[in-house]
Amino acid sequence: MKPKVNQAGPTPADSSGSDLHLELSDGPGGRRGALMRALREAVRTGRLTPGTRLPPYRSLATDLGLARNTVAEAYAELVAEGWLTARQGSGTRVAHRAEPPSPQRPRKPTTPSRPRRPAYDLVQGTPDASAFPRTAWIAATRRALTAAPHEAFGPGDPRGRPELRRAVAEYLARARGVRADPQRIVICSGFAGALRLLGRVLDGTVAVESYGLGFHRSLLTAAGLATATLPIDEHGARVDRLRETRARTVLLTPAHQFPTGGPLQPARRAALVDWAVEEDGLVLEDDYDGEFRYDRQPVGAVQGLDPERVVYIGSVSKSLSPALRLGWMVLPGHLVDAVLAVKGERESWASALEQLALADFIASGSYDRHVRRMRRHYRRRRDRLVAVLAERAPHVRITGVAAGLHAVLGLPPGTERAVVRAAAWQGLAVEGLELYRHGEATGVPDDGLVVGYGTPPEHAFAGALDALCQALPPSS
Ligand SMILES: Cc1ncc(COP(=O)(O)O)c(C=O)c1O
Repeated sequence: MKPKVNQAGPTPADSSGSDLHLELSDGPGGRRGALMRALREAVRTGRLTPGTRLPPYRSLATDLGLARNTVAEAYAELVAEGWLTARQGSGTRVAHRAEPPSPQRPRKPTTPSRPRRPAYDLVQGTPDASAFPRTAWIAATRRALTAAPHEAFGPGDPRGRPELRRAVAEYLARARGVRADPQRIVICSGFAGALRLLGRVLDGTVAVESYGLGFHRSLLTAAGLATATLPIDEHGARVDRLRETRARTVLLTPAHQFPTGGPLQPARRAALVDWAVEEDGLVLEDDYDGEFRYDRQPVGAVQGLDPERVVYIGSVSKSLSPALRLGWMVLPGHLVDAVLAVKGERESWASALEQLALADFIASGSYDRHVRRMRRHYRRRRDRLVAVLAERAPHVRITGVAAGLHAVLGLPPGTERAVVRAAAWQGLAVEGLELYRHGEATGVPDDGLVVGYGTPPEHAFAGALDALCQALPPSS
């Protein structure tokens, strides 16, 4: 923090310390008084937050053109007043107290207590955040940044770092059966970032599964596209009904229908590609958790059947962390330039440094190791969920357990909202199927809970299962 001071004369440079912007005004107490007022004001307004380390005396004195003693005395007085704390070895910091009592200020009226945060979380959508591979990620980052060429710190390629596109191409071809050419891969900010870009390239109507994330559907409509609903059943999307929708594009979750849980039946995968060929259609394949299949080999990507008709989209949001905001599209050749044109200059690019770290993480085998470890982890979770329900709520039907990080529990008609409320009473956050429905489905429970068994950290999983069982309706 280098202070930008409203005082005449050049500020001598001092490379130690940190920058701190302070406006010293005239007033009582000379320079020391001015410094104390400026620091108090910065703390009071929240510009300097509790715990913030202040620059050492010498560097602040140099930057402000003050004597070192003036700064030392100002700090000492503010420590005495309770604004700052000083500890040997950790420097002078802003104190961890809201604000020293001020007689002028009325006390804030006490607000009624907000509902407590639920103690347990089975809301789908997040991997076990406590299992992020910190050590391996740090190692990948260190290796990647050490090896990166200087140009990596320049503006870069709008498709994304070549190292990452090569690593992703190799991984997807090997593990997901995708026909991936690094030239046709565009790195984006997760699946949502891909959909946002594609929404600006496509036109007309996009068919979406009758159960899915409403937020994805909204991204399409926000881009000016119409959406049509494609019903689903226990074998996945009813692709035989695609022609009725008159859509030329369809968004699907073929490996694991979201959120009901089944893979798209093989005959339907073939019918989907036939539709695309006959109607000059385009399939957007959302492969959000394709790595996590427990009963057999993961289902390969539909893209492998016809790379010119399918946009394959994946991200690390389920496999590593949604916080990384890293994903990829494997595009048909004719869409690459159009997508790059809407991607435009820089603002929707992912950080090159994180891309390099991920490239190393994948190429070094850490990604495969992590996925395999997490597959075992989530499988154990899934098994515990199934076992606990079999023992304590055997009347509840559980589906969608062969893959992914969530399952669907069928509920008696008309009970879903009450069960979600009962769960909240037990301190458990969990969502009903209703949140994901925007059309018809057959062979899928009308009322149900979407249980994200991957979400809680390990120590909270047993408690979450217990709260879930307490909230479920008794057998009738
Ligand atoms: C259906 C579905 N698609 C895609 C994703 C990935 O989204 P993103 O990469 O934008 O985090 C998720 C959540 O992880 C999802 O549930």
